[in-house]
Amino acid sequence: MIMEIKELYASMSEKEILKGLNMRINDGEFHVLMGPNGSGKTTLSKAIMGYPKLKITGGEILVDGKSILNLTTDERAKLGIFLQFQNPMEIEGVGFVNFLHSANSAVNGNHADVKEFMSEVRGMNEKLKLSGNIFKKPLNHGFSGGEKKKAEVIQMSVLKPKFAILDEPDSGLDIDAIKTVAENVNEIAQRNNTSILLITHYSRILNYMKPQFVHVMIEGRIVAEGGIELIKKLEAEGYESFMHK
Ligand SMILES: Nc1ncnc2c1ncn2[C@@H]1O[C@H](COP(=O)(O)OP(=O)(O)O)[C@@H](O)[C@H]1O
Ligand SMILES: [Mg+2]
Repeated sequence: MIMEIKELYASMSEKEILKGLNMRINDGEFHVLMGPNGSGKTTLSKAIMGYPKLKITGGEILVDGKSILNLTTDERAKLGIFLQFQNPMEIEGVGFVNFLHSANSAVNGNHADVKEFMSEVRGMNEKLKLSGNIFKKPLNHGFSGGEKKKAEVIQMSVLKPKFAILDEPDSGLDIDAIKTVAENVNEIAQRNNTSILLITHYSRILNYMKPQFVHVMIEGRIVAEGGIELIKKLEAEGYESFMHK
């Protein structure tokens, strides 16, 4: 999938958050988006996913050359776009496995073999070192922060997206869990040739994931782009050196 974001402007409750943002992510590429708190990173992921309260006031989002701005969130998911939330929601009364199965049918059609599906979920559960009782819990309810993040990695594994946005998958995870999550995301992405947009403001997770392209976002705009050498510059100089450009 080719994801192109062109001169994108977006507002939330009258406040302009994205201010002419450009980004292009080709098939199977791995990009990282870094930027200080409040720069608009999560808002960009909402724009891509079609969050209804976000108003797109200018620009375009193109998937394989076609605008997706008029598509609902569900329709975007069916195209193969996946978002891992920074703060996953809890859904009372919906069991995790049921949820996964419905999500898979909704996105990929009803042809998923139940046996195959369960063995994939069990396999992922083991790889992610989650406890077995997660199967019995309602979605995210009573999950720890780490379990929520891992549950979303299982979702990614089941849904096999063409384009995945990971919004701070490292937040709230201890160092072992970061490694486990990162390694499994790498593996799932490689298996499915998934393009990845990883959002983070710490470079910790990049010890285990190797993006090809780095974008730095400040106040709703991309202010610098390059390879992983940009991360070293960021670590040495902070975001300060990218401001007021
Ligand atoms: N619902 C909202 N209404 C008004 N402003 C919002 C809303 N949500 C986020 N913002 C503002 O938008 C800006 C960008 O937020 P966000 O995209 O979450 O940044 P980041 O993910 O980079 O930390 C922040 O200044 C934030 O306060
Ligand atoms: Mg955010």
